[in-house]
Amino acid sequence: MASGIRYFVGNWKMFGISSSYKILENVNKFFKRDKKNKKKYKIIIAPPFTLLQDFYKRFKNKDINISAQNCYHKDNFGAFTGNISPFMIKQIGIKYIIIGHSENRIDGDTNKIIREKIIVALKNNLKIILCIGENKKEKKLRKTLKVLKNQISQVIKKRDDFKNITIAYEPIWSIGSGILPSTIELQKNIIILKKFLKHKYRLNYNPKLLYGGSVDKNSIKNFRSISELDGFLIGGASKSSKNFIDIIKNFYK
Ligand code: PGA
Repeated sequence: MASGIRYFVGNWKMFGISSSYKILENVNKFFKRDKKNKKKYKIIIAPPFTLLQDFYKRFKNKDINISAQNCYHKDNFGAFTGNISPFMIKQIGIKYIIIGHSENRIDGDTNKIIREKIIVALKNNLKIILCIGENKKEKKLRKTLKVLKNQISQVIKKRDDFKNITIAYEPIWSIGSGILPSTIELQKNIIILKKFLKHKYRLNYNPKLLYGGSVDKNSIKNFRSISELDGFLIGGASKSSKNFIDIIKNFYK
């Protein structure tokens, strides 16, 4: 079963300018009025670095949480042109961070680098959303679970505080493609992964697991029945308040 409240996480990727805060204002208004369900879920939005400080200030006393999309794998300050450390993110007041997105893995984030990011993010008390996912070929060869377990084992160690880590399962072939895993297949993978995490990291509670990949107001209906899912990582559909709100509405319909 899902371990409590659900998470609707919007990953804006390379999108947004200063006036884009209006999108979040609309989402925040909806949340405030959603008396029936608002206690059941949390909204987290990850804008680009350029908007983090402004959005954090604007929404700090509101209901929307702000997340970073990534960080550099070294902490504090240093001679790393163009990069931002978890320490600098933490200083803004931000509590959440996405790490290991497949788009960053394509750009060069290896398991070794992702491990280092996790170490420095945890050191700064950031709550991590760690993305994992198999590609099309791996799925075809029925290697999905092997790949996912390996991606987890390589970057999370037993000594890590798992309470600050949420896994987001994002099949690479589903991101931005409109292609979805079947409900049965997804449910099976989520159940197996949760068992794996509980056993491997000796957890006496249910770890949090999100799904991401082509989640929108229509596809969300396929996921409603998967009670083991703790929420969703939403890319494209999180860039419009209407689309994002419709996802939440349709989930609780
Ligand atoms: P998508 O992206 O919702 O546009 O498929 C999801 C993600 O990359 O996190």
